[in-house]
Amino acid sequence: MSGTTSDTLDIDPPAFERVRRLLRARAGIELADNRQSLVVARLMRRVRALGFDGFDPYLDLIEHDEPECTQFVSALTTNVTDFFRERHHFEALADLAARASKNVPFKVWSAACSSGQEPWSIAMTLKATSDAPPTWKVLATDIDAEILEKAKDGVYPVEQAAAVAPELKAAHFSPDRTGCYLRVRDALRSRVFFAQLNLLGDWPMKGDFDAIFCRNVLIYFSPENRLTVVRRLTARLKPGGVLFLGHSEAVLGIPSELTPIGKTAFRRTGAQA
Ligand SMILES: C[S@@+](CC[C@H](N)C(=O)[O-])C[C@H]1O[C@@H](n2cnc3c(N)ncnc32)[C@H](O)[C@@H]1O
Repeated sequence: MSGTTSDTLDIDPPAFERVRRLLRARAGIELADNRQSLVVARLMRRVRALGFDGFDPYLDLIEHDEPECTQFVSALTTNVTDFFRERHHFEALADLAARASKNVPFKVWSAACSSGQEPWSIAMTLKATSDAPPTWKVLATDIDAEILEKAKDGVYPVEQAAAVAPELKAAHFSPDRTGCYLRVRDALRSRVFFAQLNLLGDWPMKGDFDAIFCRNVLIYFSPENRLTVVRRLTARLKPGGVLFLGHSEAVLGIPSELTPIGKTAFRRTGAQA
């Protein structure tokens, strides 16, 4: 049985297995079998706040309590991100937008957007591309409801925006009264739409995309789920559209409709290539 020792909690092997099973079922995330201390560190405060003295009653609760389960997933996801992470992807996006038809809306999906730095970087890139189609929009999704709220808020400590070029910072952020935080300006906000979405669940949105960013999330999935998600993403690309993956995301068996066009960028075969 999992229980209390002094100021920390222990998690026994059956409870740890339950955590792994629940996280896999809810988010497709595979926890390595040596991550007990991570689980304790991320969940202990919540277990205690609920008045439990061990993991078993907490796990009983999240099995049928949806909001609690949402918090559980949020606590166990890794949300590390940055503005203009892997800058070469944003250069490729600008190039794609510059060559796209001006008569059709240009659509980009940031498919695991974390706290928003990725979709805001996409939006800043498109705004700065003078020959991009006049109508464009960015869909930003993540499974983690809490991190999605931060993404939507679009408020960041000044030091977190270090990777944003000064002219983009001046154009797209306004400082708060303390000067410690930067807030995304409204003009950019009107182009970015946020929604909660599990990459392993249903994708209710309609239409296809010119570019999809699905970076640094597949690494947490099983090889089978990685492949499934990449196939589904490929099917959501317009012909000539580009899929951007994270730098460490080797996907065994890239679908035959995708052609590598640089570091972890793949173009769907068809028109516009
Ligand atoms: C490390 S962050 C990557 C953020 C951004 N794409 C980047 O590369 O900087 C991984 C994100 O994937 C999200 N995530 C994990 N499992 C997911 C799933 N099944 N569906 C959608 N998002 C998921 C997490 O909540 C987290 O915000």
